[in-house]
Amino acid sequence: MKKIRLGIIGCGLMMKSHIAGIGAIDDVELTACVDIILDHAKELAEDYPNAKVCTDWKDIVDDVDAVLIALPHDLHYECGVFFARHKKHVLMEKPLCNTEEECKSLIDICDEEGVVLMCAYPLRYRPGILKMKELVDSGEFGKIMQISLWTEQLTKMPEGHWLTTARLGGGQFFSHGCHYVDLLMFFLGNPVQGTHFGTRIGTPWLRKEGTSIASFKFENGALGYHGATWGSRGTHLAWNMQIITEKGLLEYDRTRIKLYNQNREHIPNGPVDMQKYEVIWEDAIASGKQTQFEIEHFVDCIVNGKKPNTDGREAMKSLQVIWKMYDAEKAGVIADLTDIKVR
Ligand SMILES: NC(=O)c1ccc[n+]([C@@H]2O[C@H](COP(=O)([O-])OP(=O)(O)OC[C@H]3O[C@@H](n4cnc5c(N)ncnc54)[C@H](O)[C@@H]3O)[C@@H](O)[C@H]2O)c1
Repeated sequence: MKKIRLGIIGCGLMMKSHIAGIGAIDDVELTACVDIILDHAKELAEDYPNAKVCTDWKDIVDDVDAVLIALPHDLHYECGVFFARHKKHVLMEKPLCNTEEECKSLIDICDEEGVVLMCAYPLRYRPGILKMKELVDSGEFGKIMQISLWTEQLTKMPEGHWLTTARLGGGQFFSHGCHYVDLLMFFLGNPVQGTHFGTRIGTPWLRKEGTSIASFKFENGALGYHGATWGSRGTHLAWNMQIITEKGLLEYDRTRIKLYNQNREHIPNGPVDMQKYEVIWEDAIASGKQTQFEIEHFVDCIVNGKKPNTDGREAMKSLQVIWKMYDAEKAGVIADLTDIKVR
């Protein structure tokens, strides 16, 4: 089979995580590395002597079948449209675009041109997350009562970096929380209501919130929680997911799935017994972003004419939830999310 010729655009921090994954996929050949700072592109092209290296994405049109875009958020739309119009498949880093109008327009253009548009939400393809989903879907643990997601990072950039400007398109909840809102909907289905509170305390380099607390109610009655910060000077959980079900608590700590289940109706002297767990699954791969799985899925969709699990429409839903929750926060009301239906 002819390999998919892939171009990477924006060779900054995130693309450094992608590059190892790209090298591990047989059906892909890296043919172009683009960055406005040539040295960034050169660095990532080191192991790919045949890849074209340049500063303008317009120069690689003839060298690629598909592109992976990891640019500052305000450039996602322009770059995505450029490649879609040239009939190239697009894997776009999250968030898909900075506005709903841009998202819808990019989706329409990709449909019109008949190219694959997928948003890079690596958690949706990560073996540990898929195993959590398989476990709860099996019914073995009863119904889900609540899912809690924590992320604690220090994401601090110098004054003037795009992340500290309006180019980011929102705060922590928009830029990073979109992964986790998407995940909550993946596990729990249609959201009904949501509230969000954000603060800039501790993250003065950001225009909008650097710390975010969001709670959700879903159509099936379950609850979701997202507690996250880009201002963490220390961390307890790094990122962590807990699912409380009728039969116990499942925790994914990025490398293992633990089941806390003492299988009793009532534990009078509580915590010590209840904190016992068994490890029921372990990741074969050391932690890290594990983006190779999403790239594999993108390639599979191109080669076999499939619709990505996180295609443009699906990816836009997490952003629509976030925009509605930002609006409700400003208005001091609970967000009505009933018109957002997941696939
Ligand atoms: N999935 C994840 O876990 C994750 C983590 C971090 C970032 N991201 C996403 O990746 C994307 C990039 O973020 P980052 O942290 O790598 O940013 P970054 O600033 O480290 O990298 C962006 C790169 O784009 C280059 N660039 C800027 N303008 C350009 C232009 N006009 N043409 C070509 N190159 C240009 C910059 O020189 C830089 O090398 C964003 O969408 C971000 O949200 C995803």
